Amino acid sequence: MTDRSLPTAADGALISKALLAWYTRVRRDLPWRRQPSPYKTLVSEFMLQQTVVATVIPYFERFLKRFPGFPELAAAAEEDVTALWSGLGYYARARNLHRVAQAVCDHHCGVLPADEATLLTLPGIGPYTAAAIAAIAFGHRTFALDGNATRVVARLTDDDAPIDQPEARVRLRTVATEWVPKRRAGDFAQAVMELGATVCRPKNPDCFACPLLSVCRAARSGRVDTIPVKSPKKAKREIRWAVLRIEANGWVALQKRPPGLLAGTWLPPAVELAAHETPMSSVCSLVGSLAAAGALPSAFAQPQFIETVVHVFTHRQLTAEVFEVTTKRRPVSKTAADDSDWRWARTNGKSRLALSSLARKILRARKADNGLVSP
Ligand code: ADE
Ligand code: SF4
Repeated sequence: MTDRSLPTAADGALISKALLAWYTRVRRDLPWRRQPSPYKTLVSEFMLQQTVVATVIPYFERFLKRFPGFPELAAAAEEDVTALWSGLGYYARARNLHRVAQAVCDHHCGVLPADEATLLTLPGIGPYTAAAIAAIAFGHRTFALDGNATRVVARLTDDDAPIDQPEARVRLRTVATEWVPKRRAGDFAQAVMELGATVCRPKNPDCFACPLLSVCRAARSGRVDTIPVKSPKKAKREIRWAVLRIEANGWVALQKRPPGLLAGTWLPPAVELAAHETPMSSVCSLVGSLAAAGALPSAFAQPQFIETVVHVFTHRQLTAEVFEVTTKRRPVSKTAADDSDWRWARTNGKSRLALSSLARKILRARKADNGLVSP
């Protein structure tokens, strides 16, 4: 069991003192840190959302020269704003920034709101950006939890809960907010970002150069390399189908898939198998219902197992047990021939129907000659 008990208040005071002293010494001279203003903070935070500092600097300088403040940006044509952004990527940021400037001018008397709740109502401003602006531009005692800050706080508190879980992020933010000093909240926010970017790096953090080594719990427990923890990728859900290829003299019957997986596409009739169901029992019931519906002529050979086809979807993995049944003639039944849910396709692959890759795999499936018995 991990000790999540928090650095004490004394630890918090130590953290902010040591971190601010370090930041004062090493802070980079960045254009948005010179004569800071809410507008500069806003523009820089939008640019830094997905982009590293070195790339942002020239874009920031050009942007400020062209649009020095809210009125100029609000009055600009959208193409001119996105043109200045070209090369930075994620152009929705440029459009949102433009809209923020218009909202500030139209609804907030030209002044960027200072409180997080109001900032959150503006386009493109999420919890991180709202907190960063409130702290950096207005000195509010709040904590901006971006990727770097998450890693730093998780290590400082030796928190091994997966950081993609919302509860873990809420806990990390609550803890770190306690550490924010009454003065210099904005410097504290930037100091944490700076520490995460330059010292407490994702790989090979430079703990010996870290001003917080003496209070860092992950350093003490020897878990710096394992924290932060990320949830394992979710295993794909496994689905099993029994599929029946009904073949008649070079033709194969296709059914339009009902709502669900591959809805609306053409496949040989298939049923999903329950957890422990054997394919043969469901093939029996499938044949029975197809025969009853007239989709299968009464004279047919016993279904034979052909092959197991595995197909991977984004969130699921399908195992299809393919069976084949042959009949002499295509059924004459109106139901089978004309019903919009059924089609006959050539087995030679020259079908006019657009077939999914799963359908093509199923039509290509061949019986192995290795004496394997059906599942
Ligand atoms: N990343 C996000 N905000 C930043 C800032 N103000 N300084 C440096 N890097 C940042
Ligand atoms: Fe990160 Fe190491 Fe500093 Fe802890 S001591 S905050 S792990 S750099």
